[in-house]
Amino acid sequence: MNKIVNFFKTSFDHNEIKAFTKLVHNGNFSMGKETINFEKAIAKKLKITENNVALVSNCTTGLHLSMIVTGVKQKQEVLCSSLTFVADANCIKYVGAKPKFVDITSNINWNISVKDIKNKITKNTKAIIMTHYAGYPCEIAKIKKIAKHNKLVLIEDACHTIFSKFKKKYLGTYGDLGVFSLYGNKNITTGEGGIVIGKKEYIKKIKILRNHAIDKSMLERNLSKTPTYQINELGYNYRMDDIRAVIGMEQLKKIDYLNNLRRKVAVNYKKLINKELPEIKIPFSNFIGNKFSYHLFPILLPFSLNRDGLIEFLSSRGIQTSIHYKPIHKLKFYERRNFKLKNLDKISNFILSLPIYPNLSFSDQNYVIKAIKEYLKYKK
Ligand SMILES: Cc1ncc(COP(=O)(O)O)c(C=O)c1O
Repeated sequence: MNKIVNFFKTSFDHNEIKAFTKLVHNGNFSMGKETINFEKAIAKKLKITENNVALVSNCTTGLHLSMIVTGVKQKQEVLCSSLTFVADANCIKYVGAKPKFVDITSNINWNISVKDIKNKITKNTKAIIMTHYAGYPCEIAKIKKIAKHNKLVLIEDACHTIFSKFKKKYLGTYGDLGVFSLYGNKNITTGEGGIVIGKKEYIKKIKILRNHAIDKSMLERNLSKTPTYQINELGYNYRMDDIRAVIGMEQLKKIDYLNNLRRKVAVNYKKLINKELPEIKIPFSNFIGNKFSYHLFPILLPFSLNRDGLIEFLSSRGIQTSIHYKPIHKLKFYERRNFKLKNLDKISNFILSLPIYPNLSFSDQNYVIKAIKEYLKYKK
């Protein structure tokens, strides 16, 4: 059989299967006790309270609700990086507001540019969404200061940082709200799923809106068996369910272990690339001193290289790669004539994400690096 190096692999074992089986026997699948237990466990992990945590059906619905509860309205503007997942722009559109795409900082720091944030703020700006790309923290102190000064809501897209700290505090806890995805390729997963954390008044509202805006929680209704409830506003079905919650609970127990394994993989990649592939740059290489989550391992290819050719060559060797991301301002739906982002436009065709997951073996990493080396040599 031909060798395959997967782009990612989920870390499930008998514990997730046991938890799932137990739940199936108990018979309550929808949002209930287990979801609340999972919220409590997340709160404990992040050193916040359960009133600061809401589980939702996925991160995109969490972002949508974040827009609603923070009062983002039609025609207002929300700033986000163009180098992030399209959900960040979509959630702005969902409430009729306008996404304004911000450049990255440099070809080494691919996070949202503080300088360009300042350039793009207008009297219509209401919020900033900052994505900690690949798990590397944005310039939080500076962005918080700008948000405070301009009375803007600050939302952290912490999908890539689940759960890692920056200066002794977990990423996601710095903004007014922070969102995480539990999608299948994330550092921990429930298949689909999302977490919103933040100020109590926002979270309280999110917990109502996620359940059709019914004024009683599912648990209250189950326990008291009261059939009556009231609806005071437009709600959504953005619920997590107990099936996912019990799986998430098991995943959460392993998160530090899994993130530590990722760190070992990342350190080894850095060593190999610095030694074997001097023409390739590793973004954020000047970020030191923190335990990053290494959700992705992105590299920057030489500007003379045909990325598609490399991807095809690696694929012929069984190596899966990906691109994070095609800039949002280059996607057809969001493309505007003559809109340019200087730093991002320069590198966007040369970004590539290498396989990374906790148990990626050093020999498979060697295999990946050797294949890239072979392609570069052949292309010289
Ligand atoms: C940075 C970022 N934001 C948002 C999302 C959306 O998450 P979900 O798929 O859970 O809606 C993702 C998921 O891929 C992501 O990586």
